Amino acid sequence: MIICFSGTGNTRWAANKIAALTEDAGIEHFSSEQRGDILGIFFPIYAWGIPRIFINKLHQFFRNPENQGKFSYVYVVCTCGDDIGLTDKEVKSLLQQYGLNNISICSIQMPETYIDLPGFKLDTHVAATKKIAEAEKLLSVFAKKIQRQEIFNEVNRGTCPWIKSRILRPLFYKLFVDDKKFVVDKDLCIHCGKCAKVCPVHNIDCSPTNLPQYKHHCTGCLACYHHCPKNAIQRVYTKGKGQYLPPLF
Ligand SMILES: Cc1cc2nc3c(=O)[nH]c(=O)nc-3n(C[C@H](O)[C@H](O)[C@H](O)COP(=O)(O)O)c2cc1C
Ligand code: SF4
Ligand code: SF4
Repeated sequence: MIICFSGTGNTRWAANKIAALTEDAGIEHFSSEQRGDILGIFFPIYAWGIPRIFINKLHQFFRNPENQGKFSYVYVVCTCGDDIGLTDKEVKSLLQQYGLNNISICSIQMPETYIDLPGFKLDTHVAATKKIAEAEKLLSVFAKKIQRQEIFNEVNRGTCPWIKSRILRPLFYKLFVDDKKFVVDKDLCIHCGKCAKVCPVHNIDCSPTNLPQYKHHCTGCLACYHHCPKNAIQRVYTKGKGQYLPPLF
């Protein structure tokens, strides 16, 4: 069984690849349907950690009696633009709270999706294509290890992981994760509803007449920004930085 959180779509792509390679029946979105004792957990790195919204979902999932004592092997795949800080430690301590100890974790570099700070920009097309090709190779390697239920910890913590995960991460959430600074250009918006459709937390209301309305429980993934066909959505530092769409599975 696979559970997956994805903003823009990179992680969903990776989860689908592993599902196909390991012959897992597919991605479940927190349904209680169970298919065996291997659990795959997929998420993108947000500010050198698990997206907060997904931490809550994971707790809900493991507190559900139907999911307790069910999994003998858990593997975790996180996608990131660069590095993950101490996320592997965070993941393990969360899972161990629920008695899970056979845990494998890997990080996979994928094209960058976060651009709303000065100096943060998308990968060039060449760099993004290279990352995806490398990711495909790595996912095949990990799929074989997963099928053998090997225990591995192959992550890129990057430099100064403690500072990133323990100091910068809380600051990032406090200062930069909210939807009040999104602006929709009324002249560009065609009311297609795509932003609402791709928002993984259903934070946007769209109607054929009004501009999209943000509902203030945003998780900061920027999927609405990247997927808007008219580039009509901007935040503070996104102007002129272009959009990214993940590979199709
Ligand atoms: C809010 C936010 C924070 C991010 N923080 C990090 C980070 O700390 N380290 C990193 O390497 N990539 C970071 N990224 C990049 C994503 O982890 C990466 O592009 C990932 O593949 C996106 O997956 P998704 O398309 O499934 O959302 C961040 C992206 C977003 C939107
Ligand atoms: S995706 Fe863009 S064009 Fe479509 S409704 Fe949202 S803001 Fe408007
Ligand atoms: S409103 Fe936009 S940035 Fe916020 S969670 Fe939804 S898609 Fe992501």
